[in-house]
Amino acid sequence: MNVLLTGGAGYIGSHAALSLLDRGHDVHIIDNLSTGSKILIPKNAKFTNCNINNESKISNLIKSDKFDLLMHFAGFIQVEESVQQPEKYFENNTNNAIKLFNTCKNNGLNNIVFSSTAAAYGSVSNELIDENTNLNPQNPYAESKIRTERFLFDNQDDFKFIILRYFNVAGADKKMRSGQISKKSTHLIKILSEVLVGKRDQIEIYGNDYNTPDGTAIRDFIHVSDLADIHTEIAKYLLENLESNLFNCGYGNGFSVLDVIQAANNIYQNKINYKFSNRRDGDVEKLISSNAKILEHINWKPRHNDLKEIINSSVRWEEKINASNI
Ligand SMILES: NC(=O)c1ccc[n+]([C@@H]2O[C@H](COP(=O)([O-])OP(=O)(O)OC[C@H]3O[C@@H](n4cnc5c(N)ncnc54)[C@H](O)[C@@H]3O)[C@@H](O)[C@H]2O)c1
Repeated sequence: MNVLLTGGAGYIGSHAALSLLDRGHDVHIIDNLSTGSKILIPKNAKFTNCNINNESKISNLIKSDKFDLLMHFAGFIQVEESVQQPEKYFENNTNNAIKLFNTCKNNGLNNIVFSSTAAAYGSVSNELIDENTNLNPQNPYAESKIRTERFLFDNQDDFKFIILRYFNVAGADKKMRSGQISKKSTHLIKILSEVLVGKRDQIEIYGNDYNTPDGTAIRDFIHVSDLADIHTEIAKYLLENLESNLFNCGYGNGFSVLDVIQAANNIYQNKINYKFSNRRDGDVEKLISSNAKILEHINWKPRHNDLKEIINSSVRWEEKINASNI
């Protein structure tokens, strides 16, 4: 496959590029490095530094190469920032995405894999969230993704697409070729890794009064390399079936914030200090994926479904970037 991949200088896009390249596929990355970093771009990928809304540059790219599909990862991802600056999110995550999809379509590239989010489900009481669960977004970030999904559903005649709703993505490439870099990350396991290498003093736990066994929020953490492999398999599925579809990406296991900190403290001799503070705007109590649908449809099995492995790879990556002053 020859894949045009946006956001490949970012966390998840770079891992997806690695998964594709490791299996002999070709990848051309588009990224404007707004939150990403050049050092995450895999060596064997082609790279064009440009905004996804740059119609002429992207048209020329598509005309000069024969791509089988677009994987669209580029976007802004900070929930709290989206509450403060919603327009920034609608502009990039919705308007720019739609512009990109239309640029692709106008140049004959109609197959799309789109990165969406479990935040689209928002606050739900289901034990396991399947793809038919009603959407109930709690913040502009989630809403910006839902609007982009809606554009695809409304234009089913023009595009063949797969929407992937990721649950909480964590961990790093086993060979340490990529991991999370963002200095402003709000992701629990990234922050915990920063505490362990001494970049932060402690973790702040937002809310201990949720209706969960220990009062802290519960999430389904999926290893980024498993998520990356889903993309390689879903691309094959899309090209073989040419049928649009929607899948959750998670393991079906829930861990509370305190479970994760406890697991890390067991590995790292209780080095993680934490304190409780108020709930954050836009956060929800519990998000656990049903992954029955994706397991049924594509040739994918989790290979890294182990909280300790997720934490350990994230910490090793943090040590690596800390040693290189990144
Ligand atoms: N990280 C998660 O836990 C998570 C969960 C659910 C969904 N997602 C989705 O996955 C995708 C990737 O997330 P990530 O964690 O890798 O984020 P990231 O910030 O690490 O990567 C995003 C990349 O997109 C690039 N980018 C942003 N706007 C651009 C634009 N207009 N033109 C060109 N490049 C642009 C950035 O420079 C960056 O390299 C996002 O769409 C996000 O919404 C992430």
